[in-house]
Amino acid sequence: MNRWIDTHSHILPAVDDGSVSMEQTKNMLKIAHEEGIIVLIATPHYGVGCLNTDVEVLKKKLEQVRQEAKQIDENFRIELGNELYYDDEIIEHLRKKKALTLAGTRYVLVEFNKEDEYQNIKTGLHRLLIHGYLPILAHVERYDCLYDNLDRIDELIRLGAYMQMNISSITGKLTDRETRNCKKLMDYGMIHLVCTDSHSDYKRAPRMKEGLSRIKRRYGDQVLHQILIENTRKLINNQHI
Ligand SMILES: [Fe+2]
Repeated sequence: MNRWIDTHSHILPAVDDGSVSMEQTKNMLKIAHEEGIIVLIATPHYGVGCLNTDVEVLKKKLEQVRQEAKQIDENFRIELGNELYYDDEIIEHLRKKKALTLAGTRYVLVEFNKEDEYQNIKTGLHRLLIHGYLPILAHVERYDCLYDNLDRIDELIRLGAYMQMNISSITGKLTDRETRNCKKLMDYGMIHLVCTDSHSDYKRAPRMKEGLSRIKRRYGDQVLHQILIENTRKLINNQHI
């Protein structure tokens, strides 16, 4: 059985709009493990000027969640990061380690306003790159300025950014705009990472199986292996994807 690495989740209890309690976190861990996830990066939201949970508090919660994960499986590994809401000052926050990269690597998970202009997204990703970070654009399928615009996404990839898609977007109906967009991006090989972006144990639970079998059916084992095994392993080992 393959084991997956999920690099985007809101599983830490009561730190953002994700899990509301340790009880819910435990349920999410159980679901994630049943779905085949063996490494999971907790990525609570972080925004400049927002009420962010202090890193020390996050680390304490992480330890508690790690203990719970160990009860399920000795090898179940939980790491820490943030989902950064882009702001020019975010680089300073990363430098000061107030905001976190993914699992201590150079990779940063970054989101923008859904309605942001293309130039802002491009400049933001570029700024992260020139400061030595490897930016992963969170849920690329959501941005209006990138919708149905493969040239722009291609430009961002050439710049050095990585594209992340939510697995829930691939299991939707083709009448759904994000699902259609995802299909196109997958067709053109423009997705580097597929994650759960889980927020709870019910509505946005850490489910992988259905989406993965769809990827396998549509694109084959090789693509599945590349995105879900090779790329995620490189990320966690701080190597270039
Ligand atoms: Fe998220």
